[in-house]
Amino acid sequence: MTAELRTEGISKAFGGVHALDDCSLTVAEGSITGLIGPNGSGKTTLFNIMTGYERPDSGAVYLAGQNITGASAQKVFGLGMGRTFQLTRIFPRLTLLENMLVAAKPSRERGGLLARAGGTVDRRRARELLEFTGIDQYANALAGTLSYGQRKLLELATVLAADPAIVLLDEPAGGVNPSLIQTIAARIRDLNARGTTFLIVEHNMEFVMGLCHQVTVLDYGTVVAAGPPEIISTDPRVLDAYLGAALDDEPSPDGADA
Ligand SMILES: Nc1ncnc2c1ncn2[C@@H]1O[C@H](COP(=O)(O)OP(=O)(O)OP(=O)(O)O)[C@@H](O)[C@H]1O
Ligand SMILES: [Mg+2]
Repeated sequence: MTAELRTEGISKAFGGVHALDDCSLTVAEGSITGLIGPNGSGKTTLFNIMTGYERPDSGAVYLAGQNITGASAQKVFGLGMGRTFQLTRIFPRLTLLENMLVAAKPSRERGGLLARAGGTVDRRRARELLEFTGIDQYANALAGTLSYGQRKLLELATVLAADPAIVLLDEPAGGVNPSLIQTIAARIRDLNARGTTFLIVEHNMEFVMGLCHQVTVLDYGTVVAAGPPEIISTDPRVLDAYLGAALDDEPSPDGADA
C-alpha cells in the first residue's frame, strides 16, 4: 500500500483565530518529512485535521490518493495512519505491558480526544515492540513511573502495534533527555528503512535537520517554505519566521528528564 499523505488548501479557524490558512503540503511515500514553525503556527491543528480529530473549514486531505477529509479518527487509523500526541496519552496506572495489550481506539464513546490509538497485539508481539523501543526491562512497571522520554517511546510502541504505513509524531523529542532523543531518532530511522513513512513536528532543529528528508515550514497557519533540510535551514524566510523566533520558543523545562 502507498502511504503518500497530502493536504490541499486546508483552512481552519477557532473563533477569530485563523489557525490554518490555505495550507497545502505533501508527505512523500517512504519519506521522513518534518513540519516546523513557531508556537501557535498550526502544526498540531494540521495533525488533528489529517488524523480525523478535527474537521477543516475548507480544503482536503488525501491518503494514498483517497480523499479522507472529515473521516473519523477511527477510520483514519484503520487506513494505516498512526499518530502520537504532543502530551503523551498512555495509561499511567497500567503497566507497560498492559498499555500495549489494551486496544484503545479513538472513538466518541471512549471520550473522543482522550482515547488514543493502539493496535491489538498478543503478549509476544507486545514484548517485541517494548524491546524494539528499548523499554522492555520495565514491562511490568507502571507506565506512570517512566521518565518523559520513556513515555514517548511507550506511546510509539503502542502506535506501532497497529503496523501503520505512516506515523505522525507531535514533538517526539520535546522535553526528552539527549540520550533518549538519540534512541528515538534511531528507531525512526530503523522503521523508515523498513518502509514506514513519517511526518514529524519538532522544535529541536538538530533532530529535524538530521533526520528529515524534506521539511515544511508553517508560519501563522501558512506554508512559507518546503524543501530539503540544507536548503530550509538557510532560507531567509525560515530564519525570519522561525529560527529567529525559536530563541524565544525554548520548551519549558517542566517534565524534562532528570
Ligand atoms: N481547540 C482550539 N480552540 C481554540 N483555539 C485553538 C484550538 N486549537 C488550536 N487553537 C489555536 O490555533 C492556533 C494554532 O495552534 P496549534 O496548537 O495548532 O499550534 P502549534 O503549531 O502546534 O503550536 P506549538 O508549537 O506551541 O505546539 C493557536 O493560536 C491556538 O491557540
Ligand atoms: Mg503543537
